[in-house]
Amino acid sequence: MCESAESLGQGAADGKRPMAHNSDPYRQEVSPAIPAGGVYHGAPSSVLHAGEHALRSLESRRSVGQGFLSEPGPRREELFRILSIATCVPDHGNLEPWRLIVFSDDTRIAVGERLSAAYRHENNFMELHRLEKFANSVCQAFSCTPLTVLVISSPSLMTNIPISEQEASAAAVCMNMLNAVHAYGFGAKWVTGWAASSTSAAAVYGLNTHERVVGIIHIGTSTECPKERKRPDLNRIVRYNLIEEEPNLT
Ligand SMILES: Cc1cc2nc3c(=O)[nH]c(=O)nc-3n(C[C@H](O)[C@H](O)[C@H](O)COP(=O)(O)O)c2cc1C
Repeated sequence: MCESAESLGQGAADGKRPMAHNSDPYRQEVSPAIPAGGVYHGAPSSVLHAGEHALRSLESRRSVGQGFLSEPGPRREELFRILSIATCVPDHGNLEPWRLIVFSDDTRIAVGERLSAAYRHENNFMELHRLEKFANSVCQAFSCTPLTVLVISSPSLMTNIPISEQEASAAAVCMNMLNAVHAYGFGAKWVTGWAASSTSAAAVYGLNTHERVVGIIHIGTSTECPKERKRPDLNRIVRYNLIEEEPNLT
């Protein structure tokens, strides 16, 4: 079954637009569940209900390939909320070590063309038909999706918080964004590849030397139900209450 947040009853009923959030199902219900004394006596049933929607939304998220993301993308106010949720992530030292670049409307076409030109320039040693194939696919990934958000790790170098932790926070931004997009009823995919790692691509985005693209998040309306995929076997990867009897501390 293709279960989206929308099919869970959170979507708008206006046909084409995936979601409308005039009435927020969570805002009212997620009220102070933990009283001032700090003892949690269980959530009122309305809170559990809202929580169950959130859990199902998280469980049902699947990536949707760029070729299956069409118009419409999120509206301005929807995007604003998606980005607000995306940046509500753990961030050691409150450094905000990330920034976002949104490509929509004409800029997604322009950036696609510039990336494609940069790809041709950087790879001019390649066989022509392969060069054209890859240059065009770089361009299409941007120009054919309604909206693309670059999540850029922009770490502070003037702190003792390791860069790896700052980059982990940027990765959390990507993940939160995917979940927020899905909760709105849209589809998305987190990709990287040449457009994320090449220095010529970085120049197209105007990145500083200490910055790097952690995620390219393509967003739109899903035109197909993404297939299920094998999920991790928790029995294999989780151990409970396990510690080494005699750890090797040398
Ligand atoms: C850092 C990162 C980079 C990724 N880059 C790509 C990519 O360039 N191309 C791609 O097809 N999938 C890429 N993926 C995988 C997809 O985002 C996605 O996880 C995968 O298609 C599985 O789909 P699911 O999200 O439904 O589990 C990347 C994932 C991560 C975490």
